[in-house]
Amino acid sequence: MNANIVLLPGDGIGPEVVNEARLVLDAVAKLFGHSFSYSTHLLGGCAIDATGTAMPDATLKACQAADAVLLGAVGGPKWDDPQAKVRPEQGLLAIRKGLGLYANLRPVKAIPSLAKLSPLKPERVAGVDFIVIRELTGGLYFGQPKGRSTTPEGGEQAVDTLVYTDVEIRRIVRLAFELARNRRKLVTSIDKANVLESSRLWRKIAMEVGKEFPDVKLEHQLVDSAAMRLVTHAAQFDVIVTENMFGDILTDEAAVLAGSLGLLPSASLGAGKLGLYEPIHGSAPDIAGKGIANPTGTILSAAMLLRHSLGLEAEARAIEAAVSAAIDEGIHTGDLGAAKPVNTTQMGDAVRARLKR
Ligand code: NAI
Ligand code: MG
Repeated sequence: MNANIVLLPGDGIGPEVVNEARLVLDAVAKLFGHSFSYSTHLLGGCAIDATGTAMPDATLKACQAADAVLLGAVGGPKWDDPQAKVRPEQGLLAIRKGLGLYANLRPVKAIPSLAKLSPLKPERVAGVDFIVIRELTGGLYFGQPKGRSTTPEGGEQAVDTLVYTDVEIRRIVRLAFELARNRRKLVTSIDKANVLESSRLWRKIAMEVGKEFPDVKLEHQLVDSAAMRLVTHAAQFDVIVTENMFGDILTDEAAVLAGSLGLLPSASLGAGKLGLYEPIHGSAPDIAGKGIANPTGTILSAAMLLRHSLGLEAEARAIEAAVSAAIDEGIHTGDLGAAKPVNTTQMGDAVRARLKR
């Protein structure tokens, strides 16, 4: 197949890790007989330097016309002035909004040979393989009314509103069921239905959607006990789906289970096939330019791109298998605590060398 992929390398280690992922995509294209074309655009601090805005119009236009977008990371101390009107992170929010991306997917998979990096005991991290789907455009972070006012007594008051519509809930829960069908067929919907009305609607819609997927099991869990279960029995989860703020908190908790930030990919999806794929780590200014960043989070993001935007499941699995094989053979970058670490390019080369049809 032919596909048009936009690359947004961004700042810090972004360009280094995106380059390795692009080379992996090229190797996959060659192996499986596809043709991928790329165009590179500015987002974040580099865009501010060149154009004065974190997301130039040309970047959004290119992304809207693409089949998929692969992003490195944005930000860094150079743009950290709290007084600054334009900030790199504005580029991230603007691109997600501009592309209508409402679902954030974060898979977490324990790699047995890295169990020692996890803060959990090896027996608790064994078999961990789940994906969290966080609703990205609704809920407490965007609900109206929102703001400050004065109390009748002259004190200060602030309000945020947690609001969801049936349409917003249905589309994200449906995505969870669709993904579960290709996995272990278990959806855990996380809410706070014992307290929140919005959660009771969430639960009702989740049950309705569940009826469309009789082959997938649906369970509901309260967010507080889910937070506990993530550290006690994480291996029991398959697909987790939850609202924006609960997802924000739980994805950070989930991210540390695997042991290194550098390993984890993510995807942001909307109504169509177009998606934005990026590692979960930031621009790592402390190691930028040294050529030692771990590119696997970005390489695995490229695998998600093939799966979710291009429908190339076998190709996605080939990348995931190659990454696991390289890591299991002890080919590790410095962040994985290796005594003799490989550099960014060597890690990418090791993955490419292990790609098999
Ligand atoms: P960070 O994820 O950039 O770095 C945290 C620590 O992990 C650092 O010690 C870093 O060297 C290490 N690290 C991260 N990715 C790595 C990799 N691939 N290989 C090896 N080591 C890796 O988070 P931090 O330091 O809080 O933020 C740095 C900048 O990145 C900030 O400007 C922040 O705003 C931005 N950021 C951007 C994100 C994005 O583009 N989505 C997400 C998180 C932070
Ligand atoms: Mg967060």
